Amino acid sequence: TRAANPRHFLDLDGVAPVDLRSILESSKKRKQARNGKGQAVPDSDRPLDGRLLAMIFEKPSTRTRVSFDVAMRQLGGETLLLNGGDTQLGRGETIADTARVLSRYVDAIMIRTTDHEHLTELAEHATVPVINGLTNRSHPCQIMADVMTFEEHKGPIKGRRVAWVGDGNNVVTSWIQAAAQLEFELRIACPPELSPVPEALDWAKSKGASIIVTTDPFEAVKDADCVNTDTWVSMGDSVETAARRHNLLAPYQVDARLMAAAGKDAIFMHCLPAHRGEEMTVDVIDGPASVVFDEAENRLHAQKGVLAWCFQ
Ligand code: CP
Ligand code: NVA
Repeated sequence: TRAANPRHFLDLDGVAPVDLRSILESSKKRKQARNGKGQAVPDSDRPLDGRLLAMIFEKPSTRTRVSFDVAMRQLGGETLLLNGGDTQLGRGETIADTARVLSRYVDAIMIRTTDHEHLTELAEHATVPVINGLTNRSHPCQIMADVMTFEEHKGPIKGRRVAWVGDGNNVVTSWIQAAAQLEFELRIACPPELSPVPEALDWAKSKGASIIVTTDPFEAVKDADCVNTDTWVSMGDSVETAARRHNLLAPYQVDARLMAAAGKDAIFMHCLPAHRGEEMTVDVIDGPASVVFDEAENRLHAQKGVLAWCFQ
């Protein structure tokens, strides 16, 4: 049952808007259908019955690891956890050969990797679906959960305004791609030294996306329905640059004053893990506008949509 063209979920610019929408709709339905059931109770629809997902982690994870595992079980499948360093990858076996070998054992592969090229190489050589569980460049599963969360709180995201304040990192790359695909406005405030990768911005703009990049957090949050931020030091950023990053990003801390300058009833989002007192103040992340734990929960539901789509 080896697909000639497996359906990968690598980045939001490579999945058609109609597919992103159908993933979001199926995620929403599955969440509603669970209606307070215990986590160990399987879903009534089990599209992944008998399927096995290998999860490769070259970096730490709490949410991605647990939510993929639980999602597979609830949909009838199972997972296999591979820590990058414990496999032959850690001794230099190629990604291509690893892809060919794993494709003979498992039905899909999720990878969290230090190097985006590991993801694309894996997808190129695997004959089973490959899913991006975060790279240095992007984090598409996170933004599927975030869009789902936005829509639960604020209604359809099309035409709405999302602000990003802080580091122009992997998470914002996926937000940029989502803005183009799902047609919402994105306003990014970041220090010029930590701007998002130009490729993502150029691609989104070529698609007609409405995106601005500014150095002024107040300009970015004006009339925004949602204010987003993320850690100032991502996994893989060198320890030596941490102090410099803190200095550059200090003016971009999301605090009550900045939230008050956003649109009426704006929500606060963060993919977690968070560093209270750094990228945002305690009153913001633990306050009434914060939906960060809904985002974390929705990783589970959104990834069910992604997993089921990969096998459709
Ligand atoms: N948001 C997120 O991906 O969290 P983990 O690093 O815990 O997986
Ligand atoms: N930007 C963060 C996201 C963690 C989920 C990182 O890459 O470490």
